[in-house]
Amino acid sequence: MESNTNTPSPLQVQGIHRGKDVAVLMGGPGPESEISRWSGQAVADALRERGYAARTVEVDQNLDQVLRNNRPDVAVIALHGVGGEDGTVQGLLEYLGIPYTGSNVLSSALAMDKVKSKELFRLYNIPTLPYYTVESEQMAQLERVHGTFGFPVFVKPAGGGSSLGSGKADTVSELQARCEEALQYDTTVLVERYVEGKEINVGVVRGEAIGAIEIEPQREFYDYVAKYGEDQSTYHFPARVAPTRYQGLLRLAERANLALGATGITRVDMLVTAGENEYVLELNTIPGFTAKSLIPKMGISFLDLCEIMVDDARLHALSPQRLGMSDKRRGQGLLPPSDRGAHNTDMGGSKGSAESQGHGPTGSSTGGARAQQGGGSPGSTRSAQVQTIRTQNAQPAAHP
Ligand SMILES: Nc1ncnc2c1ncn2[C@@H]1O[C@H](COP(=O)(O)OP(=O)(O)O)[C@@H](O)[C@H]1O
Ligand SMILES: [Mg+2]
Repeated sequence: MESNTNTPSPLQVQGIHRGKDVAVLMGGPGPESEISRWSGQAVADALRERGYAARTVEVDQNLDQVLRNNRPDVAVIALHGVGGEDGTVQGLLEYLGIPYTGSNVLSSALAMDKVKSKELFRLYNIPTLPYYTVESEQMAQLERVHGTFGFPVFVKPAGGGSSLGSGKADTVSELQARCEEALQYDTTVLVERYVEGKEINVGVVRGEAIGAIEIEPQREFYDYVAKYGEDQSTYHFPARVAPTRYQGLLRLAERANLALGATGITRVDMLVTAGENEYVLELNTIPGFTAKSLIPKMGISFLDLCEIMVDDARLHALSPQRLGMSDKRRGQGLLPPSDRGAHNTDMGGSKGSAESQGHGPTGSSTGGARAQQGGGSPGSTRSAQVQTIRTQNAQPAAHP
């Protein structure tokens, strides 16, 4: 688990990056690109209001080039679902050395995969509904695969979002149709026990649950229309459950964050039955982010929320701390010494390194390339080759 020595309290706004160039990444290749643009525009507007030089960046296959050519100090990932919430963009930003908002590569990928999430939830004793998975090759034997699982079930793509390709099935033929639809969105489909219950979402900021909201959809379930249509759902905040149960839901959501190692601002979706049971459906590492979204309904201003998100932007896998560890190992003779002088020259054209981009309250911009360049290569010949390539690309590179 990563630790941050200067961890602020959950709702503390620091404004570390005010005045800096913030790129809000939005759009992307997945089916939730339109929703992402709503989030992205709303976040960019809010940040400008708070004094950031925020600009939106449409994400496409040239994202790496776009970011190299016009390198931001911080990237806000306002992408939902495939190709944005799933660790892929996070990985690119790690390599480019651009601090980014939200969870790291691993947690993003785990949270996006509802099957992997469930496996981890079970390890952490977080209640989740019984399920099995279906891949397209199994469709011909679906009835056999389903076996004695029973009905009704709820079918969803393992890596889906916004309820796209999801729905209830009461019979084998409905199951067949639902699975075929879900397979349009992912190669793995999750068939879950269907439960009736209150739809409750918990917002978690910096590991602490800030509130639980209850959603009353006007439709059969909280589908795409109920989520984004005008007046298609009624919201109750705080959720209408007994106080002790309410506290239990908050703790459950915090545990779900721990299970997946999620950081930043997340939303945990749950179904809470009239009896004793509550089930975690999923954890969203990049929840909807407009003033009308659910977390801003939990008693925190949208502007503060946006700023908290940017305050926490950082690198994880290739963070200065982790690359700095390589320097220490080098000092102990475990790795060859790095050629500081040479490495410091290969930052030409780049606006700054990860180290220079706001880790800690001062957001010092004097850091330069040291931590980013900590890797080097064992032999001087290879070092020289790496050096040449880095200089040509005019961007900080990181070692594998
Ligand atoms: N097992 C289930 N039983 C009943 N309804 C479900 C079940 N799983 C999901 N749903 C409904 O579908 C919605 C979307 O499911 P969820 O797992 O949160 O996926 P996503 O929001 O990523 O599409 C839920 O908010 C709920 O209304
Ligand atoms: Mg959901």
